[in-house]
Amino acid sequence: MSINAERYDEWIRSSFIEINTELEEIYFAQDDPADVSLAGNSLRTLLHDEGREHITGLHNEGNTDEGFEAAFALLGNVGLYMGACRRHEITEPSREQSSPLIEASGLALHIGASLGVAPRFATSHLSTHNLARDGVYRSFTKLKDEFLFLDFNTRGIFAYKRAADALTRTVPLGITHPVTGDLLIAARQALEDVAAYNEQLFAQLDPARFFYSVRPYYKPYRVGKSEYRGANAGDFAGINEIDLLLGLCQAEDPSYSQLLVDKFSYMMPEDQGRLRDCMRRESLMDQILLGLQSPDSCGEYFEHNARLFLEVCEAHGHTASQHHNQLVDRFIEQPSSVLDQKHMAHITASGPPLEVLMAALQKLRDLRTAAPRDDIRSRYKDIASIRAAIGSPHR
Ligand code: HEM
Repeated sequence: MSINAERYDEWIRSSFIEINTELEEIYFAQDDPADVSLAGNSLRTLLHDEGREHITGLHNEGNTDEGFEAAFALLGNVGLYMGACRRHEITEPSREQSSPLIEASGLALHIGASLGVAPRFATSHLSTHNLARDGVYRSFTKLKDEFLFLDFNTRGIFAYKRAADALTRTVPLGITHPVTGDLLIAARQALEDVAAYNEQLFAQLDPARFFYSVRPYYKPYRVGKSEYRGANAGDFAGINEIDLLLGLCQAEDPSYSQLLVDKFSYMMPEDQGRLRDCMRRESLMDQILLGLQSPDSCGEYFEHNARLFLEVCEAHGHTASQHHNQLVDRFIEQPSSVLDQKHMAHITASGPPLEVLMAALQKLRDLRTAAPRDDIRSRYKDIASIRAAIGSPHR
């Protein structure tokens, strides 16, 4: 890391967090906590000016070629500043044609293009790639609920990645291999971990604090001329690797692959490669359906593995139901329903109106639970035929 980048990192880890936290306390104490225009002007100016001074130095320094890690961390730090400016409405994409943060945009576009990622902060900057110094990692504020949210996002993401790793290792073995069952058990256990983390997050996170003081930092913002959708905990490949390797979602389903295409640049380059690889693999479900046509020639482990496959599908479906029915409902939908109409625009991280986003998330949940829906490419009939063939009742 260059000296300028280090100083900037120190600023992000100190004054930046202090200013944001002070502003959050001011907004949260207001009668309308969603209105940022009522107070805090001098703090907002301080945030903008201090950040700009650091970034101008870095922008002038140009590409110092310090390697991927340093560049990616710097992109995250520039992104945190741009995300905070958006949160405090120092910038507002619908008000502007192009970001007024000219130096920050220049730096972010330069780094993003050279690394092959979107030129904004992504979830990985705050979760899986967030170096702690003396036990404290980067964040927007020092609010307890932000740390809770980030801790559990990170745990959930790593657990999904563990499940994806185990399933990926089944690819060269196939569904009839004696050891594939071990990998399916590992995947199921990892998904049970996701479920346990979701439960803890659901129980511990304060809905109002999350909604008013944490979530707004994840809104879309402009970098240069283009607006980039917000970050969300789903911007890693693991969850989609699981979808595809199990076969619950299919790369040839245009609405699902559209989602993947839109998400590539929000993932780390290594995740992009993993996901591309999964998109061309035959799923476990398709291998089982093929095997059912002549089960006697599939060897003695086929049925055992197929049973475990169904358990993994159930565990995956359960985490998707929790995400939609518990997390999204309690922390987004319910608080939105009491929000003044004037604040409804840009409520979601990705930008579309809430009902459009909810329908999209519901569709994903229904694919992952193999729900009986004929208007989407749910595999419920295939799952039912596997169950019938191996005599496995729905748990
Ligand atoms: C996407 C809400 C926690 C995984 C989303 C989206 C929302 C949301 C609203 C849609 C993206 C958008 O806003 O534009 C929440 C809330 C959470 C939470 C309110 C907790 C307070 C988590 C956790 C995980 C997770 C802990 C686990 C890693 C995902 C995934 C997606 C996503 C994978 C992408 C869509 C998908 O493939 O299902 N989340 N989320 N979320 N979230 Fe969460």
